Amino acid sequence: MRRAVCPGSFDPVTNGHVDVINRAAGLYDELVVAVLVNPGKAGLFPVEERMDLLRDAVADLPNVTIDSFQGLLVDYCRSHEIPVIVKGLRAVSDFEYELQMAQMNRELANVETLFVPTAPQVGHLSSSLVKQIAMFGGDVSRLVPKAVHERLLAHRDENRSGQTS
Ligand code: PNS
Repeated sequence: MRRAVCPGSFDPVTNGHVDVINRAAGLYDELVVAVLVNPGKAGLFPVEERMDLLRDAVADLPNVTIDSFQGLLVDYCRSHEIPVIVKGLRAVSDFEYELQMAQMNRELANVETLFVPTAPQVGHLSSSLVKQIAMFGGDVSRLVPKAVHERLLAHRDENRSGQTS
């Protein structure tokens, strides 16, 4: 059984993440998408909601499961017997940091990292840009799954009504 983990903050999942998850799911028997629980950083969406949005976004992929983790990724890999981490690479600027983490994770626990170059159509996407654009009223409907778009619109409306009341 070939297993891999695709880790990230997913705050929220974008079409770029979905591209990488789809392609990684085709390479492994089981793919776990693991959301980092970072107590020092609240994020826009609570972790449980990020997981729900991910579940919705990959509902058509039977070999993909959604989980969360806290602490070191290699500890999660060890305890779940996962030998491979899958990461998407958008640009050279991603590579330097990703290479460093990949080398460190291999040194720490002999866990390999597989880099998947994102499709060019989604290479410019990031969760933080999507959040920023959505909060200022820009159209992100083509950049994120439908359920994420709806949640971003709801957040924007909540923010607006909070400002006027
Ligand atoms: O979506 P992100 O925020 O780019 O994902 C980064 C993530 C979660 C993959 C990375 O921060 C991570 O692996 N965090 C867990 C802590 C850890 O293992 N740190 C050591 C890395 S060598």
